Amino acid sequence: MDRFAIYVTQHKPIVIMSKSAIPAPVLSELQRQLNHELTAAHAYQALSLWCAARTLKGFAAFFAKQAGEEREHAEKIMDHLLDRGVQPELAALPQPAQAFASLLAVAQQARTMEQANTRGINAVFEAALAAKDYPAQVLMHWFINEQVEEEAWCAELIDRVESSTCAGSLSDLDRHIVKLLAGDEKD
Ligand SMILES: [Fe+2]
Ligand SMILES: [Fe+2]
Repeated sequence: MDRFAIYVTQHKPIVIMSKSAIPAPVLSELQRQLNHELTAAHAYQALSLWCAARTLKGFAAFFAKQAGEEREHAEKIMDHLLDRGVQPELAALPQPAQAFASLLAVAQQARTMEQANTRGINAVFEAALAAKDYPAQVLMHWFINEQVEEEAWCAELIDRVESSTCAGSLSDLDRHIVKLLAGDEKD
């Protein structure tokens, strides 16, 4: 089973306003995805700690920033649910991967996570399409775009780490990684 697709609601959704018009399959996907985003935040924090423990401060800062962004993504979905009269339901988060053989393995882990996240976003969108839930479709447009960026920086990160083989090039990369991959133009 997909490690990041572990959240399936077992309970009836908590609807705080009877006007909630979220179709049940869409609601269930949104709940799953918001917990998936929190899981991603937790997992990026672990990547950041791995880097910090090896004095790769640039990479640590970069992954910490990603953790913050994933939390913001979860909050976007929470706000959407609240606006539509549903109390978001938080799940227990799985322990993230924390032991890696190399920085390249860390970068590959980031890409695996983003690919899983893209599948999660697509699943929400497909449910919203099937149910003709237009507000959820529009919300997911933002996420679909975001995933294009997220997968692009992962590919770039892997490329840059792979080509940093000579002495000193990894610490040069570490010094510049936040600027290279997370400049102000990107969020
Ligand atoms: Fe995300
Ligand atoms: Fe992401």
